[in-house]
Amino acid sequence: MDGNGRWAKRRLLPRIAGHRKGIEAAKTVVRAAGDLGVEVLTLYAFSTENWRRPADEVSDLMGLLRHFIVSDLDELAANGVRLRIIGEYNALQPDLVDLIDQAVSRTAPNNKTTLVIALNYGSQAEIVRAARRLAEQVRDGVIESSDIDEQMMESALDTAGLPPPDLLIRTSGEQRLSNFLMWQAAYAELMFVDTLWPDFGKAELAAALEDYAARERRFGGL
Ligand code: IPE
Ligand code: MG
Repeated sequence: MDGNGRWAKRRLLPRIAGHRKGIEAAKTVVRAAGDLGVEVLTLYAFSTENWRRPADEVSDLMGLLRHFIVSDLDELAANGVRLRIIGEYNALQPDLVDLIDQAVSRTAPNNKTTLVIALNYGSQAEIVRAARRLAEQVRDGVIESSDIDEQMMESALDTAGLPPPDLLIRTSGEQRLSNFLMWQAAYAELMFVDTLWPDFGKAELAAALEDYAARERRFGGL
């Protein structure tokens, strides 16, 4: 979800106004995903690198996240949205961690759309944590190092149990992965759109899905 800052700048507004609008876009896109039959939608909300931003912006982003969990999630949950988090969200403020844990368990029975929010997420850190988990199991004699294969690796990642992404969309004209789902996106179709995230809505998602549907995926075959 890139481009909130530039959206605000173009309107001579503070960056927080762009982030606020970005949350509105996120809500619209979650609803649209449900309508368009997307079963799993992952939103990259805060990366392990985003801590490098000025403290007041980090605190604004955390405030918006808290507001989203407290005020907006219920409506989404009423429409069948199940929340999952990837990333080391336990490092966020303890009250926020509690709110997130409650929201995850409250929405666990829902099954229309799975909304995965990547929080304090970085693909490299996730892979390191998975490697540590598996190393501990080898140390404890639970598994042999030769047992480790792609499947075992996958189940040690934060995304365990989720399907790999079919389509990865980056907004705002940047063409980078920025440490997002690097293992999981091995065969994802990549799409880079110029639209700034706050302007991304149902029509943009539908257009992306149409583009995706026209692509031929061979997964290394012929
Ligand atoms: C949102 O866009 C990304 C988040 C951390 C939520 P940016 O804040 O990166 O917007 P730009 O890149 O400055 O336009
Ligand atoms: Mg950016």
